[in-house]
Amino acid sequence: MGQGLKRSCGSGELNSANIGQTVTVAGWVDARRDLGGLIFIELRDTTGKIQLVADPNRNKAVHEVFSALRSEYVLIAQGTVTKRPEESQNKEAATGQLEIYPDTVELLNTSKPLPFQLQESDHVDEALRLKYRFLDLRSQTMNRNLKLRHAITQSMRKFLDKENFIEVETPMLTKATPEGARDFLVPSRLNAGQWYALPQSPQLFKQTLMVSGFDRYYQVARCFRDEDLRADRQPEFTQIDLEMSFVDEEDVMRIAEGILQSAFSQVGINVKLPFPRLSYAEAIGSYGSDKPDLRFDLKIRDLTPLAQTCQFKVFSSVAQSGGRVKALTLKGAHDTTSRKKLDAWVDYAKAQGAKGLAWISFPASGDKEGIRSSGLVQHFSDEELNTMKSLAGATAGDLLLIVADKENVVANVLGRLRLRLGEELELIDENRHELLWVVDFPMFEFDEAEDRLMAVHHPFTAPKPEDISLIETSPERCRARAYDVVYNGVEIGGGSIRIHSQEVQQRAFAAIGIDKETAYDKFGFLLEALEFGAPPHGGIALGLDRIVMLLAHAKSIRDVIAFPKTQSGTCLMTAAPSEASAEQLKELHLSLPAKPAPLGSKS
Ligand code: AMO
Repeated sequence: MGQGLKRSCGSGELNSANIGQTVTVAGWVDARRDLGGLIFIELRDTTGKIQLVADPNRNKAVHEVFSALRSEYVLIAQGTVTKRPEESQNKEAATGQLEIYPDTVELLNTSKPLPFQLQESDHVDEALRLKYRFLDLRSQTMNRNLKLRHAITQSMRKFLDKENFIEVETPMLTKATPEGARDFLVPSRLNAGQWYALPQSPQLFKQTLMVSGFDRYYQVARCFRDEDLRADRQPEFTQIDLEMSFVDEEDVMRIAEGILQSAFSQVGINVKLPFPRLSYAEAIGSYGSDKPDLRFDLKIRDLTPLAQTCQFKVFSSVAQSGGRVKALTLKGAHDTTSRKKLDAWVDYAKAQGAKGLAWISFPASGDKEGIRSSGLVQHFSDEELNTMKSLAGATAGDLLLIVADKENVVANVLGRLRLRLGEELELIDENRHELLWVVDFPMFEFDEAEDRLMAVHHPFTAPKPEDISLIETSPERCRARAYDVVYNGVEIGGGSIRIHSQEVQQRAFAAIGIDKETAYDKFGFLLEALEFGAPPHGGIALGLDRIVMLLAHAKSIRDVIAFPKTQSGTCLMTAAPSEASAEQLKELHLSLPAKPAPLGSKS
């Protein structure tokens, strides 16, 4: 029956203007209700759903096909669009007033029973969803997320096109780019013993394109980083990557703001420009993070001036040896904070690396007798307690949570505690959209694990002109022309003005222990390019997956990527990574150590 039917419109595109018209719709059986006589089908395609009805008294052949239908069978149906009787209209659904009694239907395919219900996929074990990703992507949530991703990407492209950027594709099989993660390596068959690296970013190519005179480049660039995965990290992810010549920080930031404004408008968020700016020092000092969440206030307060001179040894010894004593002030928390809660926060602070978390809370009455503390109060005079309150921005009724330690430990612990308190005490206003720039990053920081200075961004970032001489004399004080963009406490992009002088580039390499020979071996082409009239240039990369995740209110980056990897870097649908055959290994000039024999087998 119905051989050769051809779809005339999407199910979700129908509306009351189509009543009386004959249409042909195609899709999947989303739901089926058999009322004994009438059978109702919700037919779903990418545009939406439409109700189809089979009445045995009207069309026996159609009713027979409908009787055999099951979830996710594929169907094409032709019939006249009619208005549903008033009592069965569904005002919630877009096509809820309409139905079709098909004259002709054709069953295009059957389906095995599903391993999980698509309508409930939000509550299904993620491993099962990822194994059957082709089904999971049929769910409304995933459908909506991928369409949003498309709309956001398109809006970004359009903006860049309007601003005269051109899209250039850079290689996937390339040389290592130093973004600080491990490389994925690909063996070369034609060059025995040699390896390509998958790009951690197109950084070196985009800089090279500037030397080539392209002026404004962008790319929706796939990047590969072999690092520990988290909810907002994937081993392969997408950046909106761009580079511009003859620009300064302001020019690049203006473009990035425009891109983000158009992306956010896709979900109806009206972003105000320019974004506020915070120096790295202010961000760390006041929020304990270089990606502060500004949806709630709760700033970190500095009690070090009081600690310097106080009698309480725990504080004074830290302050006098160059450390910091800082506090979070919880307004009105004296009465509402139980001892149990305080103990949990103390444990949390210790787990983050603090030696302890001191606390003191002042009663609303102002009585000194009513002050509760972790053994602090007796060490401070009334005057000192007043100074403490004033430094902490506290008044009667408030609670102070205090950490005394090295500056970076204090920032890290209080920064994390701040975020925990923000969630636990529901201080975060979910309706706020706080975008900001963090600027004036240091060029270098000391990496304890590597026991050497490392570039905070990457080693191609230009130093501030006034700090150039610090590269040799005091590298940790040298500030970079770098900028990160942060949205609600998540870093969604980062970039910088680059070094375009070969001589400064060599000095930056030297500061992080890369000698001339190594530099040429690793990035010789860039160093050479810098000697052939490299223009001043700079750029940025925005993390597309993270942006879509946040705008889609998705819990994980995996929910906005069609075929993502698990936390352990595997693809459950394709079962990648997988073993290579002996033949493949031979062609690639590789041999693997023999596999250990299974336990218990005879050797
Ligand atoms: P950066 O390393 O800061 O800069 O990366 C830019 C943005 O990419 C996103 N991002 C990630 N998203 C998902 N999974 C990951 N593993 C991951 N790693 C990074 C973040 C980040 O802000 N070449 C420079 C850019 C430049 O200087 O122009 C770079 O790659 O949102």
